[in-house]
Amino acid sequence: MADGCPHRHARCIDASEERAPVTTIEYRNDLRLFVRTALQSPARVGALTPTGPAVSALTASVVPDHPDATVVELGPGTGSITDAITARMAGSGRQFAVELDPGLAAHLRKTRHGVRVLQADALALDEVLAGAGVRPGGIDAVVSSLPWTLLAPEDRAALLRSVAGALCPDGTFSAIGYLTALPHKARSFRRQLEATFRETRTSSVVCSNLPPARVYRCRGPVV
Ligand SMILES: C[S@@+](CC[C@H](N)C(=O)[O-])C[C@H]1O[C@@H](n2cnc3c(N)ncnc32)[C@H](O)[C@@H]1O
Repeated sequence: MADGCPHRHARCIDASEERAPVTTIEYRNDLRLFVRTALQSPARVGALTPTGPAVSALTASVVPDHPDATVVELGPGTGSITDAITARMAGSGRQFAVELDPGLAAHLRKTRHGVRVLQADALALDEVLAGAGVRPGGIDAVVSSLPWTLLAPEDRAALLRSVAGALCPDGTFSAIGYLTALPHKARSFRRQLEATFRETRTSSVVCSNLPPARVYRCRGPVV
């Protein structure tokens, strides 16, 4: 079981476990597309390379083990965390991925067939989920790797409220905090998490990730 894992059951995976991309060619295709998109839209993508396996597994560790889980990923990019979620869901439940970039969304649709890819702005989460037939309060886990600290504080707060409202009472939210973020923005994001959720846990920093990152896991909407 992963250290500090919010779920006390055998299915929680250690951060060192990973679902390797199916082939090296697929991995290279993902990497090429990611880097190209990051160079075209640096502020939107917020990282130069896809999230590594340890942080992907940690971020996806909030996915519960019951068979009819509904999981929503925000900012799937080329699918590194998407794959970790898929591995945990083991062919059951509903997996959604909300990606703003049209090229990345098209790539995911082509390569991740079990995932319902919604090409949309996560900032309009309420409408996006309603359009996909997901009822408010019906989501078991929201997994995100959005560049949170690059968003305007008011957009962050509004999106966190939407996430909290979308989760079921036992639902969990995860987000990545990159160490490259400006410290005051990272602190502001952390305060917003604590203002939105009763419990916010922070993993230790995973230095092997590029850039180094930590994972926040939040439960229990404040309102
Ligand atoms: C740091 S990258 C993470 C990508 C991927 N999940 C990974 O871990 O490698 C952030 C992703 O969020 C997407 N994104 C940024 N703003 C978004 C928004 N408002 N709505 C949906 N996706 C967004 C970007 O296009 C990019 O794919």
